[in-house]
Amino acid sequence: MTKSFYLTTPIYYVNGAPHIGHAYTSVAADVMARWKRLDGYEVFFLTGTDEHGQKVEQAAQAAGVDPQSYTDGISADFRDMTRAMGVSNDDWIRTTEARHKACCTEMWRRMTAAGDIYLGHYEGWYAVRDEAFYDENELTTQPDGTRMAPSGAPVSWVREPSYFFRLAAWQDRLLKLYDSHPDFIAPTSSRNEVLSFVRGGLNDLSISRTTFSWGIPVPDAPDHVMYVWMDALINYLTGCGFPDTTAPRWHYWPADVHFVGKEITRFHAVYWPAFLMSAGLPLPKRVTANGWWVVEGEKMSKSLGNVIDPRDLVRTYGLDQVRYYLLREKPFGGDGSITAKGIVSRINVELANDLGNLAQRSLSLVARNCGGVRPGRGPATAEDTALLLAANALPEVLRRHMDQQTFHEALEEVWKVIRSANGYIDRQAPWALNRTDKTRMGVVLRVLVDSLRVVATVLQPFMPDSMARMLDQIGVPGDDRTLAALNTPLADGIALPPPQGVFPRYVEPAA
Ligand code: MSP
Repeated sequence: MTKSFYLTTPIYYVNGAPHIGHAYTSVAADVMARWKRLDGYEVFFLTGTDEHGQKVEQAAQAAGVDPQSYTDGISADFRDMTRAMGVSNDDWIRTTEARHKACCTEMWRRMTAAGDIYLGHYEGWYAVRDEAFYDENELTTQPDGTRMAPSGAPVSWVREPSYFFRLAAWQDRLLKLYDSHPDFIAPTSSRNEVLSFVRGGLNDLSISRTTFSWGIPVPDAPDHVMYVWMDALINYLTGCGFPDTTAPRWHYWPADVHFVGKEITRFHAVYWPAFLMSAGLPLPKRVTANGWWVVEGEKMSKSLGNVIDPRDLVRTYGLDQVRYYLLREKPFGGDGSITAKGIVSRINVELANDLGNLAQRSLSLVARNCGGVRPGRGPATAEDTALLLAANALPEVLRRHMDQQTFHEALEEVWKVIRSANGYIDRQAPWALNRTDKTRMGVVLRVLVDSLRVVATVLQPFMPDSMARMLDQIGVPGDDRTLAALNTPLADGIALPPPQGVFPRYVEPAA
């Protein structure tokens, strides 16, 4: 039976245009989705937009447009960004769709039937920007007296009738879950944050609002709309066809991994498993949190005018170059700063020089000295074997890193092999062997081609277009580009297309 794998990104709020932070989580999840497909899994990869709630309603009002048309426009823009980043999602979910309303309604019914929902009155602090409730003791006070959430979002006092979810009653079961599934939350910093939050005791959670109407109506309570986070989290079930448990995609549930930004782990690792346990549904296996990007050392903000549209970066540097940079520059769970200097250096040193030149040097020697035909294997020296062993170990080494989302280390492992291959070609000097020992030259070039094949195969999830071109030049048929295919040696004597540089150096345009 084919192994299946279900992964998700957060669904993005449609209160403004997409920026590089959104693109980052989607690209990271995309790398994982492509990796799992390469490794023979049947993958379901879901992303989309989070369209209800006060924040979106206010943004629509500010734009002078009704919320539905407003969300239609911005959701389409997010979808365009997703395409532009080469994200290979299998579905695009919008929380304003009928299928999602049906799913939320059923979840509400199940949680009510379980005795976990009751009607009460909410009185407390709310931050519209975070769509989150805060306790008094979490807030700070600005010099001008305004109160602020830990995220920096302004809060206001809310007082309204509300349905509550009995979250407090789930504390022990949540702690048991974290204890028995140490990999449920990653990285450790996020796990520790969640643990201390839950150990500190949980309050029941307000899960409906009555002071605005842009949301999914609560069943049998037309004055209430569901709290936007409850609505949003449920999207992960909607994508699998729930409540229709005979739907073709239902077998994907539970999710193998939810990719989230670190600021929303609490929602995914506390509220979400509690909702699911209450509804009697299996729990996701992992919530993995990415750290935050700033730009040239500054937090992105409209007022600073430094918000990056990822599509602009792609136009300037190229898609695969940007994808590579994002995954290579910082550890997935840590924070980092996007800098123009850093992007150019990664492109020119690692892509153009280390990898691009290695391929170009090896393949042009094949073109020039082997009549453009892939040479056969021959007796291996210790150096040949060492390079081939390191290259052939990559799939297994990367499997481990990808499952932990340590993408930058995965890339570093590939680059170790690339650097070894560069040392190898310099020491073996196949251009000189062309005059002294043509047979040995063929063997050396074949070792390089075989190593490049593994490198290009495992790098496909990161840089799909460039690696497809590299594999074309190595003459690897389209069907033979999976990890499993690496177990079968390439045929000898195949004519290769003329080599062409895959990664041009980035040269600053003249002012
Ligand atoms: N709608 C909620 C998520 C609901 S999921 C059931 C939401 N949306 S959001 O539009 O604010 O997107 C937040 C996500 O975008 C973050 O969790 C993170 O994945 C990504 N990022 C937004 N800004 C970011 C950076 N500056 N850096 C890295 N990622 C960031 O929260």
